[in-house]
Amino acid sequence: MPEPVRPKEIAAALGRRVIGQMEAVKELSIALAKKLRGLSTGNVLMVGSSGTGKTTLMRAVEAWLAERADPAQSWPLIRVHANVLAEEASRDRPGEAILVRLLNRARERFGDEPVEKLLAKAGAGLVFVDEVDKIRSHVGGAPNTTGIRAQEALLTLIENEAVPMRLPDWAGGRLVTVDASRLLFVAAGAFEGLYDAVYDRVTIGADRGSLQAMSVFGDGGEVHQELQFSLRDWLRYEDLFAYGLTPQFLARFDSLVLLDALDEDTLVEIFLNDPESGLAQAREYFSSLGVELAISPAAVRRVAREAARQPRLGARALKEVFRRVMRDVEFDPRATAGGALMLDLPEIEKALGG
Ligand SMILES: Nc1ncnc2c1ncn2[C@@H]1O[C@H](COP(=O)(O)OP(=O)(O)OP(=O)(O)O)[C@@H](O)[C@H]1O
Ligand SMILES: [Mg+2]
Repeated sequence: MPEPVRPKEIAAALGRRVIGQMEAVKELSIALAKKLRGLSTGNVLMVGSSGTGKTTLMRAVEAWLAERADPAQSWPLIRVHANVLAEEASRDRPGEAILVRLLNRARERFGDEPVEKLLAKAGAGLVFVDEVDKIRSHVGGAPNTTGIRAQEALLTLIENEAVPMRLPDWAGGRLVTVDASRLLFVAAGAFEGLYDAVYDRVTIGADRGSLQAMSVFGDGGEVHQELQFSLRDWLRYEDLFAYGLTPQFLARFDSLVLLDALDEDTLVEIFLNDPESGLAQAREYFSSLGVELAISPAAVRRVAREAARQPRLGARALKEVFRRVMRDVEFDPRATAGGALMLDLPEIEKALGG
């Protein structure tokens, strides 16, 4: 019997791709560790602003699972956009499209096993529902039937022991029932507007007065009163009902985790270490020209500071800012000497306009 994998080891693996976001990383690592031991584990809902790493975390789990050598310790994983579910929900039996995808993935992953075996794998797979905030049950006060249908289709799968499904042609095309009770669902969304809605609730809305001003020391030692609001302190399930996740749907998620907004230090780290960052891409380009691209710490800090001014974009702001810097440099790469190119603060300031 191999040593059971500990959540900490899983977190370390996920941390190679996801910077920070410990709350979400921990929760998913625990869920995966439990799954590896054959225990049941609750579904996870992740809430975090755009560009803070939700999809990146899902992809990190995908990669981690794909690297597991022992088939007994691995399951098919699919990542679907909630919008696509809404479309499928209007066509197929509820949940069927997800099961078909899981079955196809199981076949890719585990080869030509008997269909029954692949079905058992599929029924214990992982379903990552990205952009779950796009299937609201109501939008602007009006019911949103496609959203409601998509939530209902997911509900059919969650905890259900006998979900009817037509097998794909390669598996014989029969009608079967699948035990879906061991599926693990991880849903994520940015829930744009949720922050403001909760802030309003505790300042001017139903729970007005809950958020009290605190005394804050200014830089010069003077004291003033300030409202310090963090979504983590105040978010309740009711806020997500109000947003448009139905109570039945939400009740199937045992764990609600929030992703942190990215501060300047985290942005620096992502810029330097994310294999998909603009810097990594620029390095690759210059390296193909035989030029080594280097960047000074002050220049990195300046890029991160500029990106932090666009919190709505999260880490995507880094790319946008760095493109502005690199446009001229990449356009005319002859401006290099001796096979090395150093980006320093003046170049950044020039490109960013002061
Ligand atoms: N915590 C993080 N660690 C590493 N890279 C990150 C992190 N957050 C964002 N990034 C980088 O920023 C980009 C956008 O991140 P991602 O797609 O994960 O955002 P998201 O939270 O899914 O946003 P959205 O709600 O808009 O879908 C990715 O290319 C990723 O490399
Ligand atoms: Mg995303």
